[in-house]
Amino acid sequence: MILFKRASDLREYLEKQQKQDRKVGFTPTMGALHDGHISLLKASKKGNDISVVSIFVNPTQFNDPKDFAKYPITIEKDLRLLEEAGCDILFLPSVEEIYPNGQMLKKKYELGYLETLLEGKFRPGHFQGVCQVVHRLLEIVMPDNLYMGQKDYQQCMVIKKLLEITGLEHSIKLQISPTLREPGGLAMSSRNMRLSDTEKAAAIAIYQALDKIGKYLKPGNITALQQKAEDQLSAQGFRVDYVAIAYADTLEPCGEWNGKDKLIALAAAFLGEVRLIDNLVLN
Ligand code: PAJ
Repeated sequence: MILFKRASDLREYLEKQQKQDRKVGFTPTMGALHDGHISLLKASKKGNDISVVSIFVNPTQFNDPKDFAKYPITIEKDLRLLEEAGCDILFLPSVEEIYPNGQMLKKKYELGYLETLLEGKFRPGHFQGVCQVVHRLLEIVMPDNLYMGQKDYQQCMVIKKLLEITGLEHSIKLQISPTLREPGGLAMSSRNMRLSDTEKAAAIAIYQALDKIGKYLKPGNITALQQKAEDQLSAQGFRVDYVAIAYADTLEPCGEWNGKDKLIALAAAFLGEVRLIDNLVLN
């Protein structure tokens, strides 16, 4: 594995490879890697000649400074996992390298309603920060394929929109991988590292609540189903931001289901200080 810290060095290296028609797959991450991240890298290795992973804890996407300060950093382990999985290139830039001259958030991305609901609503500015960093990373890596996880379903939709509005959709294909889970169903997440063993056992309730919605889903009014899931999580000690049932294609809320449209259940809830999100396509 080759480690690059400078954007210009990485671009120069990849340019040579790309001139020889070598396909590049790219997986952006914020580190504290787990098998979910590695599954994206594996998908990249299957479909490309060179696989690049980036690790950069992007300050501009944290709406909560405490969350940024406490974001887990496990670089030694990350290096080992990437080596073992056969990563070709790790890009590990500094803040200055990504935002030269302190240029943070100067551009506004027109994300429309995606920014006003669910994660967009509860984490103001978050998706602007995500777009800013992903846009910058894509300009450096210029991949053929971009690998992202369904775990962050709304983020995938936002990045699809980013590719559209920047015109990058013509050169970069977004590849979405399924959510990897712990044996009990808990979605793997870097933030799980901040949970105690007891909290980790309790955190499974989020997946269970979403799974239950899928089991009891029937055509007609489904608002009670959603409310029940939310109430159950609150009763189990979560501070719930939302439980939502939405159309999977648009993320717009669905109150009355026709029995056909593809639906997704999504949840975001705090366990102690740690905010967890998950989603499940229902049908
Ligand atoms: P991070 O949370 O590190 O996630 C990096 C990628 O791994 C994302 O595409 C995410 O959806 C995916 N991922 C996380 N948990 C997963 C799981 N359990 N199964 C499958 N994939 C999973 O998402 C970010 O970083 C950042 O917002 C980023 C896109 C890097 C921009 O800073």
